[in-house]
Amino acid sequence: MTLDACPHGLFALDQEQLRSPYDLYRQWREMGPVVYLEDQDIYIVTRHDLIKSVNRQPVLFSNQNPLGPSSALAAEAIAAVLADFSEEAVTRATIVLNRGNVLFTADPPEHTRHRRLLNVALKRSAIDRIKDDIDLIARQAVGSIERGTVIDLNKALAVPVPIHCLATLLGVPRAYTDDFHRWAEAINASIGSAMSEDKIREVIQDQMDFWSFFEAEIVSREQAPGQDLLSAIATATSAIDAPLTLSEKVGFCSQLIGAGADTTTKLIGFATLAMAQDQSLQDELRQSPEKIGPFAEEILRLEPPVQGMFRVTTADTELDGTHIPQGSMVWLLYGSANRDDSVFACPNHVNLARPNPGDHLSFGSGPHICIGANLARQVAHSVLTQLLVQTERIALPESAEQPTVLPSYVMHGLASLTVRLT
Ligand code: HEM
Repeated sequence: MTLDACPHGLFALDQEQLRSPYDLYRQWREMGPVVYLEDQDIYIVTRHDLIKSVNRQPVLFSNQNPLGPSSALAAEAIAAVLADFSEEAVTRATIVLNRGNVLFTADPPEHTRHRRLLNVALKRSAIDRIKDDIDLIARQAVGSIERGTVIDLNKALAVPVPIHCLATLLGVPRAYTDDFHRWAEAINASIGSAMSEDKIREVIQDQMDFWSFFEAEIVSREQAPGQDLLSAIATATSAIDAPLTLSEKVGFCSQLIGAGADTTTKLIGFATLAMAQDQSLQDELRQSPEKIGPFAEEILRLEPPVQGMFRVTTADTELDGTHIPQGSMVWLLYGSANRDDSVFACPNHVNLARPNPGDHLSFGSGPHICIGANLARQVAHSVLTQLLVQTERIALPESAEQPTVLPSYVMHGLASLTVRLT
């Protein structure tokens, strides 16, 4: 099915459309499993089973540009601005911008080697080791929020806690939390939106600071490793693989900061909004804390922080009858798959007793499935638990307008969330 113009302003970053693109996604799903947007020159894969099938073919559907057209445009704009920076600056900013050609932007066999070397560092037992720290960070952050007044939950909780947890896991002092936030914003600045030249200059400077900091931290851990994640990255080995290079190590850190902090922030924001809008849901979760896990999965399914990932075809191919030429951009629309009613009954509603809560694609699927999902789930669970345990009511202010969402059709999150805790 071909559409010659995107009808609803998604790509024009229209607020209303970005806040809830799901009706548009439903229309695309009804048009077919593959919809070609002629004006964007993108093939959108809308259905759950077909997206999973594409993700099982990482060579044919390459990850060379997983963040899509806006990132490619940003890379060109940044390259133009970089002309007046030093050669070293250009190399470093390009590596951070390209996510270091490691994991996220790599294809097999390099990607397979990266995963073998790094999977162990983020497996469930590594997260379990710092679970008490995560609980403590969440408890203190919720405890320090003023009661009875209107606050921005993003500023007070959803932004700092995931960053602080990530810094703890990496083994970096808490004092760097603000820098982590700045670096995460710099790394993600170009995803699904455009940047001014001034913004590009600011972002490049932040990316250079990021590089200098992590290079020094990694080199010191290569010499004297500890128990933290940065030491695991610095010293990662396997029986059959060449060790990671320094660029690969810093590139991986840029992915952790870029992919890890911001996304969990968005999950906490949407989960808190859903609770603030529905007192009976809050009460149910307070009475039955074992439902907090399924609730977080439902929010992930309904409001995926990453709406979809892009692939580039490395050969002519066909997807469910649609011919796709080599070099085409394919958008795997996870936000659509998550509401595919052949997989999820009553897909637009929260169901805490859903039989298949983890079948959503918000962490992707296949070889590129999110390496940080265990951490994200633990952080969200600790924060939501503390919010519910330490309050009687999470409410939206009486005068609340619809929350503004960030201007990106890829990264889906609230720009701010005003609530009152009592
Ligand atoms: C709610 C939170 C999160 C969401 C929704 C999320 C989502 C995703 C998605 C959709 C992918 C891409 C899968 C694909 O290519 O199709 C991904 C990959 C990745 N994520 Fe996450 N993520 C989250 C948290 C984290 C955290 C906490 C970390 C790090 C600590 C992390 C690190 C990564 C990395 C490094 C990759 C690349 C993996 C690869 O290509 O092999 N993410 N994530």
